[in-house]
Amino acid sequence: MKTVLVTGGAGFIGSNFIRLALKVRPDWRVVVLDALTYAGNLENLEGLEAAYPGRYRFAHADVTDAGRVKALFEEESVAAVVHFAAETHVDRSILGPTAFVKTNVMGTATLLEAARGAWKDRPGRYLQVSTDEVYGSLKETGFFTEQTPLDPSSPYSASKAAADQLALSYYRTFGMDVVVTRCCNNYGPYQFPEKLIPLMITRALAGENLPVYGTGQNVRDWIHVDDHNRGVLLVLDKGRAGEVYNLGARCEKRNLDLVKELLRVAAAVKGWDPVQTEGKITFVTDRPGHDWRYAIDPSKAESELGYAPQVPFREGLESTVRWYLEHEGWWRRVQSGAYKDFVQALYGERR
Ligand code: NAD
Ligand code: DAU
Repeated sequence: MKTVLVTGGAGFIGSNFIRLALKVRPDWRVVVLDALTYAGNLENLEGLEAAYPGRYRFAHADVTDAGRVKALFEEESVAAVVHFAAETHVDRSILGPTAFVKTNVMGTATLLEAARGAWKDRPGRYLQVSTDEVYGSLKETGFFTEQTPLDPSSPYSASKAAADQLALSYYRTFGMDVVVTRCCNNYGPYQFPEKLIPLMITRALAGENLPVYGTGQNVRDWIHVDDHNRGVLLVLDKGRAGEVYNLGARCEKRNLDLVKELLRVAAAVKGWDPVQTEGKITFVTDRPGHDWRYAIDPSKAESELGYAPQVPFREGLESTVRWYLEHEGWWRRVQSGAYKDFVQALYGERR
C-alpha cells in the first residue's frame, strides 16, 4: 500500500481527485489534510470511508500548522504529497490578500519542510498543484508554455507563483523529488459557487441577475476537472523531478460566449425561454487587474507523458449543469450566511 497525502481534499479539485484516485489506484491509501475553510466541505467526500475501508483517512488540520503536519508525516508512512490546499478565488484575494500569503506561501513552506524532514532517509515525491495564472495575461495571440516567464497579476496568482518557486527551490537546493503542474480553468461537480460557471448556474436557477465583468470579452481556457486530475496522476507517475508540466485541453472561450452557452444548456434542460434567461446578463464593473486571456500549451505533457484530455467541452458543460440541477441541496447549503456576506461585499456596489 502506498500512502499519499492529499492536502485540500475537501475542496473542488481535491475531492474529485480523491474519488478518481481511490478508484484507479487500488494500491493507494489516501490521507486527506484539510482545514475545512469556507471552500472545504465534508459532503464532497461523503461515503468514501465506507466505500474504501482502510484506504481513506481524513485529518482536520491547517497546512500552516507545522506541528500537525509533521505529526501526520510521523503517523503515516507518506510516500507522496499532492498539494491542492490553497485560497483559490481571485476576487477574494483582492478583498483580502493576507490569507492568500498565509495559506498559499506559508502553507507550502510548512509542507515542504515536513516532507524534507520525513524523506531524509527514504524516498518521497512532492507534487505542487499550480495554475496558469502565474504566467500573467496573454494578448489575443500566443500560448503559455513552461518557459513563459512568471508575471502574476493578482495577490492570488502572486502567492501561487511564490509557492511554485519555493517548491522548485527544494529540488534545486535539497535534491527533493518535486514536480509542478500548472493547469487552466477547471469546471465540474462540487465547484464552489463563487467561480464563474457554478456562480452563473446557481444564480440562473435562483432567478438572479448574472454579473459579467467588463465587456465579457476576456478569454479563459477550460478543462473538465477529471481531465486535470488525470494529468496530475500522470505527472505524479511519470513526470521528471524538478520539471513543470502545463495541463490544458485547448478550449478557449470568451466569458460572454461561455455564459450564453451555459444558459442555453440550462434553458433546454429546464424548459426556460432562452431569450428571457439571457436577459438576466448584467455587465458590471471590471475586476481590478483582470487578466485578459489565458491559453495553455500542453504539448510537453502530451509528448512526454502521453497526456490526452478526454471530456469534450459541450459534454462536460451539460453534465455539470445537470449536476447542479440535481444537487440543489448541496449548493443551497454552501450558500450560508458567510456566502451572502461575500456576495454583498463583491457584487453589492458593482453596477
Ligand atoms: P477550492 O477553493 O475549491 O478548495 C480549496 C481547499 O483547500 C478547501 O478544501 C479548503 O478547505 C482547503 N484549504 C484552504 N486553506 C487551507 C489551509 N490553510 N489548510 C488546509 N486546507 C486548506 O480550490 P480548488 O479550485 O479545488 O483548487 C485546488 C488547487 O488547484 C489550488 O491549489 C488551486 O490554486 C489549483 N488550481 C485551481 C484551478 C481552478 O480552476 N479551480 C486551476 C488550476 C489550479
Ligand atoms: O486559470 C486557473 C484559475 O482559474 C485558478 O487558478 C483559480 O483558482 C480559479 O479561480 C480560476 O481563476 P479565474 O479568475 O479565471 O476564475 P473565475 O471563475 O473567478 O473567473 C473566470 C472569468 O469570469 C474571469 O475572466 C472573471 C469572469 N467573471 C468571474 C466572476 C466570478 C465574471 O465575469 N463574473 C463573475 O461574477
